[in-house]
Amino acid sequence: MTNFKNIIAKEISKIVNIQEKELETYIEVPKDSSNGDYAFPCFRLAKELKKAPPIIAEDIKEKLKIEGETIEKVEVVGGYLNFYINQKLLTKEVLTEISKKEEYGKSDIGKGKNIVIDYSAPNIAKPFHIGHLRSTVIGGALYNIYKYLGYNTIGINHLGDYGTQFGKLIEGYKLWGKEYNIEEDPINELTKIYIRINQLCKEDEKVLERCRMNFKLLEDGDPYCKEIWEKFRELSLKEFQRVYDLLGSKFDSWNGEAFYSDKMPEVIQILDKTGKLVESEGAKIIDLEDKGINTPCIIQKSNGSTTYATRDLAAILYRARNYDFDKALYVVSYEQTLHFKQVFEVAKLLGLDEKYTNGLKHVPFGMVSLSTGKMSTREGNIVKLEELLNEAISRAKSIIEEKNPDLEDKENVAKKVGVGAVIFNDLSNSRIKDEIFDWNQILNFQGETGPYIQYTYVRTKSVLEKAGYIPQIEEIKFDKLGDESSKNIINLIYNFENILEQVTQKEEPSILSRYLIDIAKSFSNFYNDNKILVEDKDTQNARVYLTYSVGKVLKIGAKLLGIDMPNKM
Ligand code: ARG
Repeated sequence: MTNFKNIIAKEISKIVNIQEKELETYIEVPKDSSNGDYAFPCFRLAKELKKAPPIIAEDIKEKLKIEGETIEKVEVVGGYLNFYINQKLLTKEVLTEISKKEEYGKSDIGKGKNIVIDYSAPNIAKPFHIGHLRSTVIGGALYNIYKYLGYNTIGINHLGDYGTQFGKLIEGYKLWGKEYNIEEDPINELTKIYIRINQLCKEDEKVLERCRMNFKLLEDGDPYCKEIWEKFRELSLKEFQRVYDLLGSKFDSWNGEAFYSDKMPEVIQILDKTGKLVESEGAKIIDLEDKGINTPCIIQKSNGSTTYATRDLAAILYRARNYDFDKALYVVSYEQTLHFKQVFEVAKLLGLDEKYTNGLKHVPFGMVSLSTGKMSTREGNIVKLEELLNEAISRAKSIIEEKNPDLEDKENVAKKVGVGAVIFNDLSNSRIKDEIFDWNQILNFQGETGPYIQYTYVRTKSVLEKAGYIPQIEEIKFDKLGDESSKNIINLIYNFENILEQVTQKEEPSILSRYLIDIAKSFSNFYNDNKILVEDKDTQNARVYLTYSVGKVLKIGAKLLGIDMPNKM
């Protein structure tokens, strides 16, 4: 489609001494469309040109040869140049593009670039909790969007399937395995064993020593320890899979921490050669004080076993070699900010090309709390994700029972609405914000929620059903969509691809969620302002087609966030 920003920037670059590409970033979309479709603020030029912004704007306008078929009008308002696009032309372009492509907004700007996304990563034998949900949902949305823009995207579930806690679990299992029904309810039962063995470790130093030994044995490949560990892993994964099935999550790789067990000696060797790896109380550490990080990175514990950080370093080496990544994103809670600072700093010592170390990026997100209190593993009041999703589904079901008892296939719709509500909630605010999980809010059909987006989509569907047809693009008279609310929708739809690019620039899926809310609201205005099925055939065709386009963009956008649309609700 025509890139209007580019056209404007190009013309302005002939007048002022700034590169086209840079000028493009200055151009804004005015909040109020009466100020035009695009605005160029002159404030940043004032210092260099030593003139007041309104005078600069006048000067540029005088020299600008841009008014014509595409850009109809340029106006100076204060320090801004406002540009008015030929609306009919824009409408034609947007709707024609919609008609041509099943996958509107898809592009190949990412062609040839490899993006590794590390997300979800729950811990074996521990509950899959609501914090992992955020990672799963944010990472999943980024994965879909990068892929849609043509990037070669690799989604990795870096499972927490290794570490000293497994030494403890193995010990607990040896002692009391038979007392627990692990096959039946693995994670709950293993959690009980874990709590019990921890208690015993506190009372008896010798038990703790045995636990440490077990992990060492596991690292050294002891068959018995390995067999138990494998069982824990397999049973836990089965349970996690139920959550992934509900959410529709997929991964290209399930290489968890244990996968790197035989790849850590190399890391230690490389670090050793740098001379930066030093002994401290029997452990091997890298001091990062001179990098402004006060806590050293522990590479090897005093008993010789490895750490979470070492496994992440081995993973960086592996991912650089095997995926040749341009970016490697880690979608992990902001609580691990220090960990990633340390790991990324130490990674610079691994002898990798700068391309890789520059591509490492922690994508942090805020904590989730229930309206009734904090949700943390330590405080023991964890909400299990599977229960939460099932609760969302059953709440959605009762709302449907109440509002539309005759609906077909209620189960399926309730699933889409309930799960969609939870996903959307996690993506609706900028990710770094802490979030309060409030049932009434997330399931409110009128609020800025997943169900509201789905409801709007369903409304577009029912309009199309009433109309009984979708017109051919050739039949559309584009000037029939000149009213304010139609224009708003067209402008939004035009922006879709740009929105997706912004998501990848900021690793921020909420940009897309907010956008979908904007579209839904604009459609609501359009629907209130205009009758869609009218006498005048040309007007009706145009409005039906616009309705169809809104539905299409909502559906594609929601899908990219991981949300399925019901056809009725
Ligand atoms: N399993 C970890 C946790 O639950 C998250 C792992 C994140 N990914 C990574 N490469 N460190 O806290």
